[in-house]
Amino acid sequence: MEDKKRIATLTLDDGRTLELPILSGTLGTDVIDIRGLNKLGLFTYDPAFFSTSSCMSRITYIDGDAGLLYYRGYPIEQLAKHSDFLEVSYLLLNGELPNVEQYAAFAKRMTRHTMVHEQLARFYQGFRRDAHPMAVMVGVVGALSAFYHDSLDIEDPAHRELSAMRMLAKVPTIAAMAHKYHIGQPFMYPKNKFSYAENFMYMMFGTPTEDYVPNPVLTRALDRIFILHADHEQNASTSTVRLAGSSGANPFACIASGIAALWGPAHGGANEAALKMLEEVGDISRVKEYVQGVKDKKYRLMGFGHRVYKNMDPRAAVMRETCYEVLKELKLENHKLFELAMELERVALSDPYFIDHKLYPNVDFYSGIVLRALGIPVNMFTVIFAVARTVGWISQWNEMIADADHKIGRPRQLYRGATRRDYLPLDQR
Ligand code: CMC
Repeated sequence: MEDKKRIATLTLDDGRTLELPILSGTLGTDVIDIRGLNKLGLFTYDPAFFSTSSCMSRITYIDGDAGLLYYRGYPIEQLAKHSDFLEVSYLLLNGELPNVEQYAAFAKRMTRHTMVHEQLARFYQGFRRDAHPMAVMVGVVGALSAFYHDSLDIEDPAHRELSAMRMLAKVPTIAAMAHKYHIGQPFMYPKNKFSYAENFMYMMFGTPTEDYVPNPVLTRALDRIFILHADHEQNASTSTVRLAGSSGANPFACIASGIAALWGPAHGGANEAALKMLEEVGDISRVKEYVQGVKDKKYRLMGFGHRVYKNMDPRAAVMRETCYEVLKELKLENHKLFELAMELERVALSDPYFIDHKLYPNVDFYSGIVLRALGIPVNMFTVIFAVARTVGWISQWNEMIADADHKIGRPRQLYRGATRRDYLPLDQR
């Protein structure tokens, strides 16, 4: 896209000036191209990236004020309603929705890669049974780098594509194995007759002793969770994947770094933290008191607030609907924990503190409830997020590597440490 010549002029207190181009996207905020700044020997200061666009991307668009989320231009509500996770994955990776043949070929290819190398299964024995499954995910996904040497040439698009398929197909298997190991049940090999979400449920909940019959309402809910979490532009974990990838690191290692970044409670750990919070509140009679503690800044309401959305998170709106469907299907509407969650949502949405701070429930508030209702253990919540986000991470990584001008990411800093001083030998200090 040709940028109209618009400029911002920067004037320093010593009188020097610099003209900086203003760039426009196809949607969203204009950005000032500050790359010329270092000619003046200056850097910008923007810790936590409140005002920084770290890259140019064509994948996902968010308008936080309007509460919009598009994957490759398609509104998330439409995709959640009409599409499935495999199709969304194809879209994110390739930029366009597949036609019938492309979809069938993609699905077939995906199922061919769902098994993991038998030797990889032995890695699990090295972990304690009570290890957090995210710890296992970071380790085992990173270890994939040691198995697939035939797809590690990142400059070769065919290698990148093969790595992408391998990762997308194997991550659910690795995740379900982490759960099975934790509870001491045998690993379940993937089954090609199932859809992506069904297969995951089967590997999580199936046993060799019983036939597994997927429930369509529940697998659809899980598929929605996968769709809603598939990508979210330059969030902390995606930026981590891009930064790791910018050094030329292999894709399996990069995705492992994304999983590590996702683990934190301010990011992917929020659905787990939200559920723990509900358990801590314990009873509907304590909701008002708990909300008062949030207002007194003793703690945060987990599953509420977002760096970008200052309106209802569009994913939360879809997830809320799914949440009601699942609770109805499982006849859990009157379950204590879910009643408590609904009351918390009601109180928070009508309280001036939350309204003034533009704090709305985010997707993780509802996805935590849905995952709990599906029988997914709380320590697997962030793992499910990682399974879903893998396609976003790979798409963003691929977009970066495919750009012939990509360079290693290297931020600078504002240094406020000690000025030069001389070393004193130990006995003189
Ligand atoms: N509960 C209570 N107050 C909050 C919350 C919350 N969840 N989130 C923000 N605030 C207040 C905060 O205290 C501050 O108030 P004041 O201006 O009076 O000091 C103001 O809102 C701005 O907070 P901030 O920390 O500067 O905002 P941020 O953009 O850095 O934080 C956030 C975004 C997601 C880290 C934060 O809202 C939070 O900690 N939420 C809870 C964790 C959570 O649910 N995270 C999941 C995010 S969605 C999943 C994803 O996309 O990764």
